[in-house]
Amino acid sequence: MTDSKSRPDRVAAHIAALPRSGIRDFFELVIAMDDVISLGVGEPDFNTPWGIREATIYSLERGRTNYTSNLGLLSLRKAVCEYVAKDFDVRYDPEKECIITVGVSEALDLILRAVLEAGDEVVYHEPCYVSYPACISMAQAVPVPIVTHKEGQFRLDPAELEKAVTPRTKAVLINFPNNPTGANIDFAQKQAIAEIAVRHDLLVITDEIYSELTYGERCKSIAAFPGMKDRTVFLHGFSKAYAMTGFRIGYACGPHDMIEAMMKIHQYSMLCASIMGQEAALEALRRGRNDMESMRREYRIRRNVIVKRFNDIGLSCHLPEGAFYAFPDVSSTGLSGTEFATRLLQQEKVAVVPGPAFSRHADNHVRCSYAVSLDDIETATSRISRFVAGLTA
Ligand SMILES: Cc1ncc(COP(=O)(O)O)c(C=O)c1O
Repeated sequence: MTDSKSRPDRVAAHIAALPRSGIRDFFELVIAMDDVISLGVGEPDFNTPWGIREATIYSLERGRTNYTSNLGLLSLRKAVCEYVAKDFDVRYDPEKECIITVGVSEALDLILRAVLEAGDEVVYHEPCYVSYPACISMAQAVPVPIVTHKEGQFRLDPAELEKAVTPRTKAVLINFPNNPTGANIDFAQKQAIAEIAVRHDLLVITDEIYSELTYGERCKSIAAFPGMKDRTVFLHGFSKAYAMTGFRIGYACGPHDMIEAMMKIHQYSMLCASIMGQEAALEALRRGRNDMESMRREYRIRRNVIVKRFNDIGLSCHLPEGAFYAFPDVSSTGLSGTEFATRLLQQEKVAVVPGPAFSRHADNHVRCSYAVSLDDIETATSRISRFVAGLTA
């Protein structure tokens, strides 16, 4: 009998060539162990605020269990467009320029598949969210990473971006605040990126999933810069800021032709996002702001604690300006990020994610999520301190 393992030819070559996510492999090790404190997971430790859960229950009680429009509930699209206008300074038409998706994950996949053809290039910055190069490759296009550095606080240098542009470049994909570095960019950097996009006639895809979790000054979206609305697709969602990962609701706002193309793929592959999730998202926008603000305040406190602890331990760590990740440099221990994470897990039962999960150039680093309680941050960093002291003893 033929074993499926002996039939690699059954899988499309561009899928067979994809590496498995480094996070997943590492967390299979973690799941097999007891009593691990995990700083590994990229999701809020808060429950979804009660008002949002209650509104979802109430919508179920009213029998709201049907399909919605392919684009999503119009009431939600209107609320999304109002929110984006107010908080990001860019106006979209809820009837034509907005689509509700299954998380930012689906929105990203849709826009990439909608615009890319085989051989097109997409420039993005690394370290980055694990899905970016994979989704670009799944759209049969070519991922072109620009490496960002600790010395530059992991910001995207516009000059590096311009150097990476070729006649095949179709789009630039940016994510600030960034997973995994927590980096953010300011007005001047956004403006410089916008000018490059205009100069080279590029589409900009901006993943704004951590925008609310910004601890310094927050500036308008790149979509709001002159000449940018018509060449930008704005991706956002409810997973992080509202602690709603399991509801799986995201959205894209952009020019009508882009949204229409995304909608075609979405209607044939997904039909619509779940109505329960959409009802929950509507409640989040109507009455969730205070809860969101109080979670943000709590993350900020945790950020300050964890970053200070790492620097005290001798693991140099820049102050992340957003999201909920610290990205310390562990090279002072003499270990690579991968060795550090593996030995720390074995010896001290603390899980952190090795840097190479986010870029092959990031093996001096580990990602530590501070979407965990202050108590867990205290215990985890005490264990890390003991681990590091043991290495040099
Ligand atoms: C930068 C970034 N974009 C997108 C996502 C996916 O989010 P969603 O839950 O909306 O699919 C994540 C999740 O960790 C992320 O970090």
